[in-house]
Amino acid sequence: MSSELIEFFNVIFRYIHVIAAIMWIGNSLLFTWMEINFVKDPKKGDDSLGEMNMLHAGGVYFLEKRVIDPNNIPPKLHVFKWQSYTTWISGFILLIAIFYSRPGTLMLDPSKSDMLGWQATAISLASLVLAWFTYDLLLKTPLRKNTVAVMATAALILLGYVLWIDQFFSNRFVYLQVGAMLGTIMSANVRFVIIPNQKKIMDNLKAGRPHDLEIGRQAKLRSLTNHYVTFPVIFLMLSAHFPSLYGDPYYIAIAGVVVVALIIIKWMMNLYNTFSEWLYVAFAALILGCSAVFGLKYVSANASGGGGPALAMDDPIRLGKELYQSSGCMACHQPMDSSIAPTLHGIYGTERQLASGETAVADDAYLEESILYSKAKVTKGYAAAMPGYETVFDEEEVAHLIAYIRSL
Ligand code: HEC
Repeated sequence: MSSELIEFFNVIFRYIHVIAAIMWIGNSLLFTWMEINFVKDPKKGDDSLGEMNMLHAGGVYFLEKRVIDPNNIPPKLHVFKWQSYTTWISGFILLIAIFYSRPGTLMLDPSKSDMLGWQATAISLASLVLAWFTYDLLLKTPLRKNTVAVMATAALILLGYVLWIDQFFSNRFVYLQVGAMLGTIMSANVRFVIIPNQKKIMDNLKAGRPHDLEIGRQAKLRSLTNHYVTFPVIFLMLSAHFPSLYGDPYYIAIAGVVVVALIIIKWMMNLYNTFSEWLYVAFAALILGCSAVFGLKYVSANASGGGGPALAMDDPIRLGKELYQSSGCMACHQPMDSSIAPTLHGIYGTERQLASGETAVADDAYLEESILYSKAKVTKGYAAAMPGYETVFDEEEVAHLIAYIRSL
């Protein structure tokens, strides 16, 4: 696929994907919120399960949750499904247009394995299908009766899978692949269980058949999965913007911490009516989660930097490293190329391809110009997104930075 076509698909379908996902997740969060805020009116009979009044945009909306009377089924019942399907379909198109069309550069990490592009695509695609069947099967085993056991088993299987794909996929694609698998499970839950079960319930009602409890229970377990997986999936989908997280050697542990913290936060948000300490626990999860991530990053930074001989206090490389870390270069430049910025590891003395079509050798003068006037020469394949540091660093500091970059 030509790069213009890839860019075209990227813009159109990413936009659709984001809008559809906002609509889907927005609905789902609003319904959960309603569910925990309904108040039952004791004056009304057993058919009324709860009601509420909402003030929104200049009007009061009255909403009542009820058991449907089979003799009085409303002529228009709104069903929510296209938000979910559109999210999945546009996401799948993006996966093909952006990743499957360039598996060698965007999915694989050549420093991990020499797997071929088509093999990576096949593994990614097959995993989407198998993730759904594995999850679906798991929820059909007797284990489903114990929510904690079923979730723990699913988490263990997922961890095993992640450790496997970590052998060949780039870190960034590992995050995205897991996000795509969880998103597929969520959408398939809607398509193959939640919507068909709603239809079965309505058909039973119309035919005067008794309510089948198992149908409702299955739909509920599926909704529960979708509900708690939502926040983690959003994190994984946006993770391409966080090279400092996926570029870290402990990126799997970091994702684990983030996912657990997000699930606890969502859980607490659901308890806000019934558990008075919910906000404290949610904040504790946030603070502990952030501390754990910073802790992991601290350990990995020291583990990778501590191997060499001890450096003198005024060593230019050490000073350059400190400057590099404190000036935020690492937010964009990682030990390997990312979509945000090229890596600076091993670039000293190499020939650089520029966006202008020219080439330049990465010597001291080139590095100095790149740091001070970053827009003067832009590396091919990257946006001119680097800030210029001409007013930030003096000559000596630039020399230290260059010494550090040379040492990488
Ligand atoms: C906001 C993200 C960002 C930050 C922060 C950033 N850079 Fe960059 N950097 C880029 C991008 C994108 C490019 C490639 C485009 C270009 O050449 O301008 C780049 C290119 C470079 C290059 C040229 C690399 C090549 O491919 O030839 C050097 C050297 C460099 N940056 C050093 C630094 C240093 C040192 C810092 C910290 C003081 C820093 N950058 C901070 C995004 C960033």
